[in-house]
Amino acid sequence: AKGDPAKAQQIVTTVCVACHAADGNSVVPANPKLAGQIPEYIAKQLTDFKSGARKNPIMFGMAAALSPEDMKNLGAFFGEKKAASGSAKDPALAAAGQKLFKGGNQSSGVPACAACHGPSGSGIPAQFPRLAGQHADYILAQLTTFRSGERANDGAKMMRVIASKMTDQEMKAVSEYISGL
Ligand code: HEM
Ligand code: HEM
Repeated sequence: AKGDPAKAQQIVTTVCVACHAADGNSVVPANPKLAGQIPEYIAKQLTDFKSGARKNPIMFGMAAALSPEDMKNLGAFFGEKKAASGSAKDPALAAAGQKLFKGGNQSSGVPACAACHGPSGSGIPAQFPRLAGQHADYILAQLTTFRSGERANDGAKMMRVIASKMTDQEMKAVSEYISGL
C-alpha cells in the first residue's frame, strides 16, 4: 500500500524539519533535499539507516524511532513536495558534467547517469533516486563514499562499480551539473 503523507506531518514538523526543511528543500549543502524524491527510495534508505546497512550516525538516530509504516508515510510526504530548481555556480564545470551525465565515459566504462536517473535527473520509480537540483556537496560526498565502499547497502552495488571508475574531476563536474538541474 502507498504511504499517507498526512500521517507523516507531525514527525516532519517536530524532527526532520531541523535538517531537511519542512518542504524538503534543505538549504544546507550537507543535508540532502528530499522534495520530489522517489517515495520508495526514501523509505528504503530509512530502512537501511535503521538497520545500519547505510552507515550515518545522525540518520541512524533519526531512523531508530521510525516504524516501517512511518517510513512509507515520510516517503509519500516528501515525494509529493515540489523540488526547488537548483543553480550551478560554475558553468564550465557543469558543461563537462553534462557530457558525462548524458553520454558517460566510453574509455573508462562509466555509463551515462541519465540511463538510470532519467534524462533530466528526476529519477525512475521505484529504485532510481532523483538527483536533479541536489546540493553539489552532498552528491560529491555520496560518490566518494560509493567509491571508498563506505556506502555499502545492497541498493548501492551498481553505484559502487560506477564510482570506482570515476576520477575526482569527473565527480566534481557531474555534481556541479546535477546541482543545476
Ligand atoms: C539523509 C530522511 C531527520 C540529517 C537522509 C536521507 C533520508 C532522510 C531519506 C537520505 C537521502 C538520500 O539518500 O538522498 C529524514 C527524515 C527525517 C530526517 C524522514 C525525520 C524523521 C534528519 C535530521 C537531521 C538529518 C533531524 C540532522 C540532525 C541528515 C544528513 C543526511 C540525511 C546529514 C545525509 C547522510 C549521508 O551523508 O549519508 N535523511 N531525515 N536528517 N539526513 Fe535525514
Ligand atoms: C544512487 C549518482 C549512474 C543506479 C545514486 C546517488 C548518486 C548517484 C549521487 C545517491 C543519491 C542520493 O543519495 O540521494 C550517479 C552518477 C551517475 C550514476 C553521477 C553517472 C556517472 C547510475 C547508473 C545506474 C545508477 C548508470 C544504474 C545502472 C543508482 C541506484 C542508486 C543510485 C540504484 C540508489 C542506491 C541506493 O539504493 O542506495 N547515483 N549515478 N546510477 N544510482 Fe546512480
